[in-house]
Amino acid sequence: MKISLLLALGVALPIAAVAAEKKSVDTSKIPLPVPRKVDFVKEVYPIFKDACISCHGPEKQKGKYRMDSKEAAFKDTDYGPTIVPGKSGDSSIIHMCCNLIDEMMMPPPSDKPGKSEPLTAEQIGILRAWIDQGAEWVAGADSYVKSVTFEADIKPIFQQACGECHGAAAPKGEFAALTLEAVLKGGKGYGKVITAGDVKKSSLITIVSGQDEDLPQTEKHKLQPKQIELVKKWIEQGAK
Ligand code: HEC
Ligand code: HEC
Repeated sequence: MKISLLLALGVALPIAAVAAEKKSVDTSKIPLPVPRKVDFVKEVYPIFKDACISCHGPEKQKGKYRMDSKEAAFKDTDYGPTIVPGKSGDSSIIHMCCNLIDEMMMPPPSDKPGKSEPLTAEQIGILRAWIDQGAEWVAGADSYVKSVTFEADIKPIFQQACGECHGAAAPKGEFAALTLEAVLKGGKGYGKVITAGDVKKSSLITIVSGQDEDLPQTEKHKLQPKQIELVKKWIEQGAK
């Protein structure tokens, strides 16, 4: 009995160890690559910039990893190569973004609201398509990442969608939507509706998503999804 048990263990252990080492991640259920050609500068780098570079860039290099240059971003890790051109399913950044590696979800989950949202299926699809299409890296992409400002990006949206009721003259709820100063100040009943840098604390997002049932004319407060994304980005970037 004893001998056979030992034998069994002796055989089983090394096999288990090898199996664990080679254990490949199951990518069958993760978002698929988007079915189109993607643009590194316009679509891919902005995802890195928004979601990764605060911890993996010039200021911090968590896990000794940084993503602001090609050599650094493509390096191998303990979890396998990060970016394998042509093979998004074998690229460990995809495994990490899809939470397929224990304790290595990227960006890491955070208790602080508004910080560190997981990537969306669309964003993962864009990263996968980029890798599958050869993972071409364009140096200097950083300088192309557009910042969102009130004057250039947000004001035209508010003008068109809110101006009728929240213009300069007698704005509803004393909320004037057409200058940065007034928008940051907020309204009579709600007070401030924006916390710069913190989307979750900014009730403006609930309002413009058409989810604030306390407001009259909820539907009139609803922006289009793309516009809401832009407003969120603007708040994330500090609402300037
Ligand atoms: C809030 C900080 C933070 C953000 C944001 C973040 N990471 Fe990380 N990342 C870490 C930490 C901390 C580690 C080290 C974890 C460990 O080794 O246990 C790490 C490790 C890694 C590693 C492994 C490096 C190695 O050699 O072991 C990769 C690859 C990585 N992150 C990719 C990403 C990607 C891609 C994103 C964006 C989608 C991202 N990270 C966003 C904090 C962050
Ligand atoms: C058709 C008119 C209309 C449109 C368009 C409209 N609102 Fe309003 N809004 C109102 C009314 C009415 C109230 C309630 C005012 C009150 O309580 O006295 C209100 C209230 C608000 C408040 C709360 C003000 C406060 O503190 O009491 C905010 C913030 C606000 N709107 C933002 C917006 C934004 C942003 C847009 C554009 C996306 C928008 N509204 C579009 C009519 C409108």
